[in-house]
Amino acid sequence: MTTTTSSLTPNVPATLPGPCGVRAAWRNLRAFRADLPGFLLHLAREYGDFVQFDFGPFRTYFINHPDLLHHVLVSDASRYSKTRITKAVLRPLLGEGLLISDGDLWKRQRRLLQPAFHAARIAAYAETMVQCTLEAMHTWQPGEQRRVDHDMMTLTLEIVIRTLFGEALSPEERDAVGHAVDVGQRHVGAMFKTLFRLPTWLPTPANRELKRAVQVIDQLIARFVARYRQSKHDRGDLLSMMLSAVDETGQMTDVQARDEAFTLIVAGHETTANTLSWAWYLLAKHPHVEARLHDELDRVLGRRAPTVDDLPRLPYTEAVVKETLRLYPAAYVTAREPIADVELGGHRIPKGRTILIAPYTVHRDPRWYEQPETFMPERWLGDLEKHLPRLAYLPFGAGPRVCIGNAFAMMEARLILATVAQRFRFVLAPGQRVEPEPMVTLRPRGGLCMRVVAR
Ligand code: HEM
Repeated sequence: MTTTTSSLTPNVPATLPGPCGVRAAWRNLRAFRADLPGFLLHLAREYGDFVQFDFGPFRTYFINHPDLLHHVLVSDASRYSKTRITKAVLRPLLGEGLLISDGDLWKRQRRLLQPAFHAARIAAYAETMVQCTLEAMHTWQPGEQRRVDHDMMTLTLEIVIRTLFGEALSPEERDAVGHAVDVGQRHVGAMFKTLFRLPTWLPTPANRELKRAVQVIDQLIARFVARYRQSKHDRGDLLSMMLSAVDETGQMTDVQARDEAFTLIVAGHETTANTLSWAWYLLAKHPHVEARLHDELDRVLGRRAPTVDDLPRLPYTEAVVKETLRLYPAAYVTAREPIADVELGGHRIPKGRTILIAPYTVHRDPRWYEQPETFMPERWLGDLEKHLPRLAYLPFGAGPRVCIGNAFAMMEARLILATVAQRFRFVLAPGQRVEPEPMVTLRPRGGLCMRVVAR
């Protein structure tokens, strides 16, 4: 598989192109709300590597070339922060957690959390991941139709809770947490789509529902933090590692630990669940890929459950996950704003303006990928990665704020895919039309209804 490497320099005209002006501003807003990935793809194809557009009353920028992305996310990363909108929407849930903190607080927290995500620590979670998957499959009956997206969400939530807190929740607690997370996600999705946000302290029905949801998760975290503080025992789970980490300014406070734990619950399961849902969908649509995956699993594992040591011998399984993340990157868009006026691609961008970055559009760019709309895991088996321009593939972001759970997620997705595909395949329910629904992450609109078939 070859890649075009001729367009390495971004094409940035003297005047930035893009749909601006009052009428375009409202058209953009409607398109943004209706189908954000589709809108961004349209902007990239129509206007190119560096686009400006009006979004309601706000001038917004969209960059679509790996070099420009590298500038914002890597080489000049310290000149940019997460956007104020992102923080305002997520703060009621995540407080000052790693996903939205900036500056010295972010630096310190990243340093304290990083050891918990080192390869050796993460490898210890492989068994939990496989065990949770085997338990989830106990109730699946061949021939039945299931909401596979729900199954994946429940499973990855279970995994993040067990690895974070070191033990399973009761079924009631699990349901309450699942519901609370769902309420939070819907709230955040709705908030990102509106220009006029009511403050979360106003006692509207939606805000009251959100408050109750946050309380459920807060109480759970408080219980586990208190247990750790009493015993001071590092049980090998993420939370004990977080709480025992020390730097020159001491340990994390309970409030900060709450924010980080909340962040890991939210950031650490929906993304992987959606990736797996898309993988099942794509496998169902591409029987030859599914057959090759089954062949690899049968050859390497037979009927035995996978372990972390098997992963290097499952390159096709890995390629399926990578290709799924290329076509449907769960974190399909992110944003930054300059903390002071900056120069980007020869243009001055004023402090505080939103700059959008969309792995979704970069991953579908024919300059970097042959047949970019086609699901071809094989493309990852050759030397594609050697030739790809840096940042032409960035499902986990890049630079200092690259996903801290990157290795965790890749291990989890491969282990779940392997464990399930050894035993079952999924067939799309008749009449299912699947398209992406851009919430905070990219998920299948209306869910993913599939029939379970025993292998
Ligand atoms: C397939 C699964 C996942 C995908 C696609 C994904 C994607 C991303 C991306 C793109 C970012 C960077 C966002 C930005 O630059 O604005 C990010 C950050 C983050 N992710 Fe993930 N993620 C996944 C799984 C996980 C898991 C399993 C965890 C934790 C257990 C996690 C925790 C985080 C955290 C805490 C951050 C913020 C890091 C920082 O700013 O320092 N993610 N993720």
